[in-house]
Amino acid sequence: MTNKYMYFIANWKMFGGLNSLNSLHKVAKFYKKFHKSKFAKIIYCPPNTLIRPMFKKLVNSRIDVGAQNCHENESFGAFTGSVNPRMLKSVGAKYVIIGHSENRQSGEKNKLINSKIKSSLNSNLKVILCIGETLKEKRKKITKKILSLQIKAGLKNIRNKKNIIIAYEPIWSIGTGIIPKTNELLDTINFIKKNNKKLKVLYGGSVNPKNIQTLKSINNIDGFLIGGASQNPKKFIDIIKKTYN
Ligand code: 13P
Repeated sequence: MTNKYMYFIANWKMFGGLNSLNSLHKVAKFYKKFHKSKFAKIIYCPPNTLIRPMFKKLVNSRIDVGAQNCHENESFGAFTGSVNPRMLKSVGAKYVIIGHSENRQSGEKNKLINSKIKSSLNSNLKVILCIGETLKEKRKKITKKILSLQIKAGLKNIRNKKNIIIAYEPIWSIGTGIIPKTNELLDTINFIKKNNKKLKVLYGGSVNPKNIQTLKSINNIDGFLIGGASQNPKKFIDIIKKTYN
């Protein structure tokens, strides 16, 4: 895996204030040297309140900033509490996560996710589309069916997929410390890739500096979407370093 182009995407979820940016220089410093010999791409997705200050801190670092969700409207509108993709782009975001299970669980359906993806792409944001099954669905052995549906409906009528990355995040793995069995994960990622040629597929769910040793051996994974561990610069750097060891 050493020379493979890998994504390391930090999803801070609803964590972090301005003081959380104070330690970012550690990651920037590490990456300044590291990117020269390794093909690693780092993207930080903080809460919207931190996108602009983070973008400013990371200028010239080659680390990109993204958002965690957006409204489906491309233009301004009377949508209290919402932010559209153009607004995210204007403050420095290059990427946006769409369809995270935490948002699906609060009611986002595939149709809405499809609209959000379309307006994000139209606004020149790159999209990280999250998919994943619940524990119940896994037990029923319908994981592949669920994933196919989420991809098919999420990417409906989108012909140009070059700015889309898929993140496979089994819901039962998020924040639980449990990761899928190696052969299962290999098989699931292969399945996603077989049906979606050329798309990069990342894994997310409890990635940490310990289990990265196992995860990195699964050679069809194109990177990781990291929640909890990404808030700690030391752990985040450790994960990246160990991936290439
Ligand atoms: P954890 O790494 O905290 O399990 O979160 C994964 C996730 O939801 C990233 O989007």
